Amino acid sequence: MDKGEEIEKINREINQCKRCPLYQSKINYVPGEGDPSSEIMFIGEAPGREEDKQGRPFVGNAGKYLTETIEKILEIKREDIFITNVLKCRPPNNRDPKEEEIEACSIWLIRQIETIKPRIIVTLGRHSSKFIFSYFGLEFTNIMNERGKIRKVRKWDKDVYIIPTLHPAAVLYHQNWRELFEKDFNTIRSVIEGKYKNKRTSILDYFNEDKESN
Ligand code: URA
Repeated sequence: MDKGEEIEKINREINQCKRCPLYQSKINYVPGEGDPSSEIMFIGEAPGREEDKQGRPFVGNAGKYLTETIEKILEIKREDIFITNVLKCRPPNNRDPKEEEIEACSIWLIRQIETIKPRIIVTLGRHSSKFIFSYFGLEFTNIMNERGKIRKVRKWDKDVYIIPTLHPAAVLYHQNWRELFEKDFNTIRSVIEGKYKNKRTSILDYFNEDKESN
């Protein structure tokens, strides 16, 4: 099965999910969308009102702002990346996801990640950052401390870059965070373009880097 078929299969399963009570209050499941063969995956928190209505991630105000920022700073089309959320159903009144909902729903996100095997994972906000850090064995402090810092992990026999940033809805609320958000997107761009140079972490890295530059 290729990645597209596997993602379709996961979508069909999500669309029948009853693993937590949120399926009862939702209008639509919001599995995620985009290019399953993309090397970039964006992960938000949970669908909001508009997402719930349309069954698509990031299509409300925060989504429009996210889409604009992707197109303006990364200069790529939204449909060329894969966008999803930790939760696939809207929590009533957009309240924070509960731990047990994240736990119940996480099998879907994990299957999506393990299918797509992205080279770059951008986490939007604290909930998705915390979840992804834990999945990749990283310690999470808080979003203001972690945002904009590139974490490199070894997975699927390749280097995978995890870049947390702020949640676009929070940025719309705190207009003075726009600058930080855009700065983080420039960081994401440098990783996409392969311009990001790893920080040296051990004496072996010095040796290898010297060899590379010779
Ligand atoms: N906020 C999210 O975290 N995800 C969406 O899809 C929309 C708003």
